[in-house]
Amino acid sequence: MNSKIVGVGHYVPENVVTNDDLAAYIDTSDEWIRERTGIQERRWFNPDKDTVANMATRATKMALERAHMDAKEIEFIVFATITPDYFFPGSGVLLQRELGLQGIGAIDIRNACSGFIYGLSTADAFIKSGMYKTVLVIGAEIQSSALDKTTAGRNTNVIFADGAGAAILQATEEKSGVLTTHLHADGDYAEELYVRDPGSSRKVRLSPELIAGDSFKVYMNGNGVFKHAVVRFEEVIREALDKTGKSTEDIDLLIPHQANLRISQFIQRKLNLPDEKIFNNIMYLGNTTAASIPIALSEAVDQGRVKKGDLVCLAAFGSGFTWASALIEWS
Ligand code: UT7
Repeated sequence: MNSKIVGVGHYVPENVVTNDDLAAYIDTSDEWIRERTGIQERRWFNPDKDTVANMATRATKMALERAHMDAKEIEFIVFATITPDYFFPGSGVLLQRELGLQGIGAIDIRNACSGFIYGLSTADAFIKSGMYKTVLVIGAEIQSSALDKTTAGRNTNVIFADGAGAAILQATEEKSGVLTTHLHADGDYAEELYVRDPGSSRKVRLSPELIAGDSFKVYMNGNGVFKHAVVRFEEVIREALDKTGKSTEDIDLLIPHQANLRISQFIQRKLNLPDEKIFNNIMYLGNTTAASIPIALSEAVDQGRVKKGDLVCLAAFGSGFTWASALIEWS
């Protein structure tokens, strides 16, 4: 048994935040942000309307519609997020409730930017083992509420953004579908990109002193992350190609996690891919962590950039450090 993606969907908040909007209260500029990241605008959630789970629900409904499926066919939920609505339980159970699927299993995956590919790999393994026939995989984040929105946080607040993407995987006897997935991590770098609190290893998880400090905000060693990212992206893509006996020329569309346009362009050059073989949407959506790949995949399908028989490569790098790739023969 193999697994294939039968439907993809996405949702992004309506609230557009431009670089100039940020430059109005942060010491930054449209020029700096465009030049260093490629980002022109991003979406930040509306606290009166958007939650991680309800954005995921909207993305799922789009995926179901495209797959001509009823939600009741979903047997299991894999929910990738590092920004769950509650400290616990995870957002997977909230999505399950919103979809009216009480009783089916749901897990959360906390692998940041690689979370969606980790989730895809998990779903693929469940299907290949015969445990489930239909699994919903989500990447959804609200990053904007965890950002330091002052000048001190300008290396993160201009990058990170909110949104949700969904993919429905189904068992198939075809040889196409998910061909291979590759997952890696190196915990030596855990503190290079992280949010320290509310950490359970503190004597008191929340205190006025802690809240007054910076440990609830996203910390990133941008340069360090960048240097590792460019190496690991290429490595893990080549690993997937080698495993399947394919070459870079066989890739029809590369969808890299949308970390920074300069990172995507670097990988594109290293793999010698023409512009039409790489998909980027960071320019107008920013970096949505676990949501970035499924949103991009859904947009690529919308735009007719993925056709039956195409070899689609997904790749990610992020907090942990974690990095991952997947090769899919679209069917
Ligand atoms: O998705 C998860 C993985 N994350 C990533 O892959 C992100 C990887 N890293 C990056 O994308 C880049 O490192 C950043 C965009 C975060 C930063 O760009 P950079 O070219 O590496 O800048 P830098 O950190 O080396 O900082 C250069 C200068 C500094 O000023 P000084 O010390 O030279 O005076 C920063 O304070 O740029 C300054 N700076 C900014 N200036 C204006 C940092 N952020 C900003 C900003 N606006 N938003």
